[in-house]
Amino acid sequence: MRDIIIAGNWKMNKDMEAVRAFCKDVAGAFKGKVLGRVLPILAPAYPFLAIMLRELEGSLVKVAAQDTSSHADGAFTGEFRLPCWLHGLQYCIVGHSERRAYHHESNEIIREKLLAVMDNGMKPILCIGETLEQRDGGITDQVILEQLDGCLRGVQLYSGKELIIAYEPVWAIGTGRNATGDQAQEVHRLIRKWLTDQYSKDLADSLSILYGGSVKPQNLEELLSQPDIDGGLIGGASLDSKSYLAMMDIAINHK
Ligand code: PGA
Repeated sequence: MRDIIIAGNWKMNKDMEAVRAFCKDVAGAFKGKVLGRVLPILAPAYPFLAIMLRELEGSLVKVAAQDTSSHADGAFTGEFRLPCWLHGLQYCIVGHSERRAYHHESNEIIREKLLAVMDNGMKPILCIGETLEQRDGGITDQVILEQLDGCLRGVQLYSGKELIIAYEPVWAIGTGRNATGDQAQEVHRLIRKWLTDQYSKDLADSLSILYGGSVKPQNLEELLSQPDIDGGLIGGASLDSKSYLAMMDIAINHK
């Protein structure tokens, strides 16, 4: 059985007070709740990682970093090392389209980051996805396969639990225009087939593939009802605790 993951990507949003308030809401709402196979993950901006880990200690919520340098240390002004000293930090997003677009991260750089995350004993959440131009040009599959090949070339995986993949069509991120369940399913199926061919059916069948791009309480059920969609990587709609908790409930009640 694959995990259903409801991952909030807060990007560069919230201040300390808002982070604390959100943690309080979530910790309170989860008390005594049976989550089944639903895994909640929250990725705050870097300065709030330690505080979130402290506030959510003992709760079922996992905390993720939004990025990391691939370097362990050295002359890299402004970069930060993956904070493996932060006890409890288990996940790190790599390859988000905003990093690819604004920081010129190539598949090769993302691969190095992914390996750095795994070397730290943590799990990467690898983002891939095509732009509108690429979709309109009919090369979505080609782009997705190139990203998978480039980011995972030679990466050893022994089980589907070491990695999470998030398919995030760039044209759907922050635009309010989500991919339909069918559109997303088509790409998710392609990703799972690639995993089967490169690794094994067992591994492909146990790896969670998330959809991201304007996910909200109103469209989550349609997305989850697709056979290869195992949750969401959610930006805007994860910022409000009520909306995040509503999505958690939809996932918990999903049959
Ligand atoms: P969005 O962002 O839900 O606001 O579209 C998703 C993401 O960038 O991960």
